[in-house]
Amino acid sequence: MKHLLFKLQSFLVLLVFTAASAYAQKSPVDMNRFIDDLMKKMTLEEKIGQLNLPVTGEITTGQAKSSNVAKRIRAGEVGGLFNLKGVERIRDVQKQAVEESRLGIPLLFGMDVIHGYETVFPIPLGLSCTWDMKAVEESARIAAIESSADGICWTFSPMVDICRDARWGRVSEGNGEDPFLGAAIAQAMVRGYQGKDMSRNDEIMACVKHFALYGAGEAGRDYNTVDMSHQRMFNEYMLPYQAAVDAGVGSAMASFNEVDGIPATGNKWLMTDILRKQWGFDGFVVTDYTGIAEMTDHGMGDTQTVAALALNAGVDMDMVSDAFVGTLKKSLTEGKVTEEAINAACRRILEAKYKLGLFDNPYKYCDVKRAKKQIFTKEHRAVARKIASESLVLLKNEGNVLPLAKKGTIAVVGPLADSRSNMPGTWSVAAVLKNATSLAEGLKAVAGDKAEILTAKGCNLMSDAEYEKRATMFGRSLHRDNRSDKELLDEALAVAAKSDVIVAALGESSEMSGESSCRTNLEMTDTQRMLLQELLKTGKPVVLVLFTGRPLVLNWEQANVPAILNVWFAGSEAGFAIGDVLFGDVNPSGKLTTTFPKSVGQIPLFYNHKNTGRPLADGAWFQKFRSNYIDIDNEPLYPFGFGLSYTTFSYSDVSLDKTSMTDKGELTATVTVTNTGKRDGAEVVQLYIRDLVGSVTRPVKELKGFEKIFLKAGESKKVSFKITPELLKFYNYNLDFVCESGDFEVMIGRNSQDVKKAAFKLL
Ligand code: BGC
Repeated sequence: MKHLLFKLQSFLVLLVFTAASAYAQKSPVDMNRFIDDLMKKMTLEEKIGQLNLPVTGEITTGQAKSSNVAKRIRAGEVGGLFNLKGVERIRDVQKQAVEESRLGIPLLFGMDVIHGYETVFPIPLGLSCTWDMKAVEESARIAAIESSADGICWTFSPMVDICRDARWGRVSEGNGEDPFLGAAIAQAMVRGYQGKDMSRNDEIMACVKHFALYGAGEAGRDYNTVDMSHQRMFNEYMLPYQAAVDAGVGSAMASFNEVDGIPATGNKWLMTDILRKQWGFDGFVVTDYTGIAEMTDHGMGDTQTVAALALNAGVDMDMVSDAFVGTLKKSLTEGKVTEEAINAACRRILEAKYKLGLFDNPYKYCDVKRAKKQIFTKEHRAVARKIASESLVLLKNEGNVLPLAKKGTIAVVGPLADSRSNMPGTWSVAAVLKNATSLAEGLKAVAGDKAEILTAKGCNLMSDAEYEKRATMFGRSLHRDNRSDKELLDEALAVAAKSDVIVAALGESSEMSGESSCRTNLEMTDTQRMLLQELLKTGKPVVLVLFTGRPLVLNWEQANVPAILNVWFAGSEAGFAIGDVLFGDVNPSGKLTTTFPKSVGQIPLFYNHKNTGRPLADGAWFQKFRSNYIDIDNEPLYPFGFGLSYTTFSYSDVSLDKTSMTDKGELTATVTVTNTGKRDGAEVVQLYIRDLVGSVTRPVKELKGFEKIFLKAGESKKVSFKITPELLKFYNYNLDFVCESGDFEVMIGRNSQDVKKAAFKLL
């Protein structure tokens, strides 16, 4: 009997694959026919099973309840798994699904491949500071090659949440505060991951997240309430998600927060009306982790109620909650969900599998030979090193302390001076931490035998040992030193005394940003500030190499340290890349994509704010009864778009080819940029526009274009931006996307504050 059953099962599996091969071409008609046939064979339980995504990795957060995964795969109760690493393990699990479940439907294997796989690129916030869309796309391309070689066909990236609150730990995972730049990056990432059409075995499906508005949680606290007007939502936050949809992203992830009083996971307006109907999204929606179960804590009802709410809202796949498999059958009997809704969700998951080619070949991503050859390769690491060097932002360089000469003795001091595990940065789940190069190792490699590199820890990350534990989780320990502060300092000062220049490797540990790593005090920690003060007292030149996953409050450092290089967490090759920049082999060109405030009290502080009815007069920092503070000015420490170079650039005035256009026309704004220094270098030329009068209030400026150019010393280049009516559109009071005739200001410059202006009219 058993034998007979197995035969029958094998026959069915064969049937599915024969059918799959026959309909392998990706015409929608073929796909629909294939899925119709398959769904006819599926039981209700098997359909609901496709909607289930349990976790298998080592990192579990929230209320993980999944267990006994293998048994459930055989029972057809699993649609995919995530965060399982290793091609052989994945192949084994896929085999269970294909050979041991009744219909042999292959599984999706997802992972948080956020900024690279084993070759790790800069954290997304750093990557965005390259303003280099080719580099962004290439980083995603390499991440796709490496992860697909290791069995992964689906990544939970790009994360495109706009954030204006540096307290939020996940500001590190996004692209900063600007929707225009965020949209360009979202598209570049989707292109990089998915390639042309996901047909190759090194192209994977992307997942835009966290839909929507996750970066706007109150008080910068993770998972917190979001409440904003639709005006703000559509003009300032939605564009990057929509851009990913336009680029053909295969899946979207619901966010943890509520939107308009309903958690995103259960919000039909968001998931169906906007995402599918308005934007035409045709992929599937997955929850973020226990998003469905969490709706009970949000106060939306018991598990059965919230599962039905999510399905009816348009959510297709339940990550970790087990709420769909646990309750949908019952809800169907009780009339709380329809069979059509279950079928629609199941169909979308099957479509994704079809588009990925898994029905043709469930082992498409399980080529063990590829895994051996294509992960953490020399070529990938060379690209990562180059991109990492582009992401570094030079914040200060008084007296040209930088670049350093490759000679003499250099002291590399600080808790981050010689850590490998902290280099990749937060959300690098596939990274092999020991493979990263520490800063000291990187500097030694770049300086070769021309300079001597000495190291000392100098201090612990902070004096509070418990805080340090929270800040160094997931294997990113900085190995707290039991010696006293004085002993650590004395050791560092002795090393400094032997050196010509001091590189202070300070800031945040990698897990001080990222999920559930919010902070209220964004200054340098107590021990590190003390160390920096003592290092400065030596009178030797000090360069602050600042590791951080968010904007920090650096007033003291800006006032007292001659050179500051913000290095974010630049990935597995960061040590080399920082060396390349410190020693001048690479001229820094990164520009901030997030405003650095002078005080946490100014947050949210962002460049594209509204004017108010009581703006400050130009140049004033306080005026009574104007919009300001009495204890601090309104200005940021470093504005959006800011970043220095080892060379200097001058900008000509802006010339316009005409000063008015109709809503069918266009005009061109041009500047000439000249490299006025002695080194070759790259510059990010930024275009901002202000709509001076509107039917709703408009921001004081908005980024509407950028171009990264390379100029040899002394060279000039004309940079032109085409201004079209499309670029002037915004969502009006009725949420129509329109441009309105009137006066506009064009601003072009090196950052959001330092711009040249011209004016035109839209007739
Ligand atoms: C995060 C997501 C991530 C998911 C799966 C959640 O906690 O918010 O960004 O993709 O876990 O690991």
